[in-house]
Amino acid sequence: MLARPGEKVKIKVKVNGIWYEREVEPRKLLVHFLRDDLGLTGTKIGCDTSTCGACTVLMNGKSVKSCTVLAVQADGAEITTIEDGDGKLRAIQEAFKENFALQCGYCTPGMIMQSYYLLSENPSPSEEEIREGLHGNICRCTGYQNIVKAVQDASRRLVKQ
Ligand code: FES
Ligand code: FES
Repeated sequence: MLARPGEKVKIKVKVNGIWYEREVEPRKLLVHFLRDDLGLTGTKIGCDTSTCGACTVLMNGKSVKSCTVLAVQADGAEITTIEDGDGKLRAIQEAFKENFALQCGYCTPGMIMQSYYLLSENPSPSEEEIREGLHGNICRCTGYQNIVKAVQDASRRLVKQ
């Protein structure tokens, strides 16, 4: 796709079950598209350099760091963010809340989206697999212990469903 400087490109993206059509600059990152164009500010920006995982969303069912994806690359894709009303996502959110798996909460949307992906791939992960699955998401507050417990709790809840 070629665009002149300043020229915008039309994209169509399905986010949390709703199709959106917008014109974006080709250099716009997916995280900025979600937050600034769609007002979905649950997805956070921690580093902007693909290190922290705060911006994690699902793209066609796979977790991606939305600060490393251009909005134009999401053209035609299905994106799931922390705002989605899906029951599985709600169960993970409840597990995080009840296990005190957050303090400031800044990393939490990304942690939950990565946990969602992890549990989709592996519904009953071991502690080691959880730690491995979340290694790209950084939390500065909790020490990870309760995050691991929350994912174990979410796994039990979802297996029962
Ligand atoms: S903001 Fe994307 S990985 Fe940190
Ligand atoms: S709860 Fe504060 S960064 Fe994780």
